[in-house]
Amino acid sequence: MKALITSGGKGTRLRPLTHTQNKHLIPIANKKILHYAIDTVIDAGIKEIGIITNDDCNEVPKAFGDGSQWGVSITYIPQKAPLGLAHVVKISEDFIGKDPFVFYLGDNMVVGGVKRFVEEFEREKVNCFLTLAKVKDPERFGVPEIVNNRIIGVEEKPKAPKSQYAVAGIYIYDSTIFEAVNNIEPSARGELEISDAHQYLIDHGYAVGYSEITGWWKDTGKPIDLLEANRLVLEHMKPRIEGNVNDKSHIAGNVTIEEGAKIINSNIRGPVIIGKNTIIEDSYIGPFTSIQNDCHIRNSEIEFSILLNQCKVLDIGIRIESSLLGTGVEIIKSEDKPSTHRFFIGDQSLVELV
Ligand code: DAU
Repeated sequence: MKALITSGGKGTRLRPLTHTQNKHLIPIANKKILHYAIDTVIDAGIKEIGIITNDDCNEVPKAFGDGSQWGVSITYIPQKAPLGLAHVVKISEDFIGKDPFVFYLGDNMVVGGVKRFVEEFEREKVNCFLTLAKVKDPERFGVPEIVNNRIIGVEEKPKAPKSQYAVAGIYIYDSTIFEAVNNIEPSARGELEISDAHQYLIDHGYAVGYSEITGWWKDTGKPIDLLEANRLVLEHMKPRIEGNVNDKSHIAGNVTIEEGAKIINSNIRGPVIIGKNTIIEDSYIGPFTSIQNDCHIRNSEIEFSILLNQCKVLDIGIRIESSLLGTGVEIIKSEDKPSTHRFFIGDQSLVELV
């Protein structure tokens, strides 16, 4: 069994963060999204992993190397343009060969891993195995139509979904998937859709099995999805204090403080992770917050948020909540008069004064 993981695409819904970095490298609880995908397939016992990258992308290979640090091999497969998920499969045929494989969308996160799905795929001897998750907004996803416990159709982002399920971005295939991806046509939006490949398999009598994901699963396509995934991961993290906490600080609940971090005269209410060499002074950090490395928070309040490396939040008189701050962002108090708000922010940023 091999694995194919995506890290291509445009990440348009996560701009401006994705103007300067690949969305799969955004941290959730201070660990890159793609790292969770890699860990998940390694936990399922897979040792040969292909990662699809944008053609000009070297930040993903730089971040994960050749896999030898985990005792696996990683092969990077560049995609010339994001022409669809079935296109991703198509260009990976040489890497996959005749082996069965897990196709894992690198922006998906699932608790409980994929091992049990691999076992079901092998036990049921199907050609294609889909994982389904019940969602409130199926029109955002590929949606199965299920009759008598069989999938009889799959539609991509339908206006009138035929079930409450999303096909999650974790699929298991044998090599018949290559017949499908080589015989479908691009959709109206110009992509070779993975849902059309699944429909092809159904229409041509191949065995398509499925299982429901009963724990949580997240497609981290939008900012709120990142905050939610961050919340869920933090809730399950084991607390660890490696940094320095002074006597006048108060730590409650599930809190991780990484090496070199300093907590001075502050109140940290978990679940929270504070990254390496970050300084928190005279501040409140509330539940479901991840602050990455080398940040400085002073005399401020932050809750339910993600801050990337080297952010500064200094002396501001408002609480920051439900927020995502990219690398090196500064939100600071100025003593200039008259009092006003002053912004110096990049393209497609969003500021909400609530
Ligand atoms: O998350 C589950 C959903 O993922 C499924 O329900 C849909 O059927 C499936 O089409 C897909 O929909 P999305 O709209 O979420 O796909 P997205 O364009 O966000 O791409 C998913 C991943 O694949 C992401 O890691 C980016 C990468 N990608 C995407 C395309 C289109 C590539 O590497 N190359 C591509 O050409």
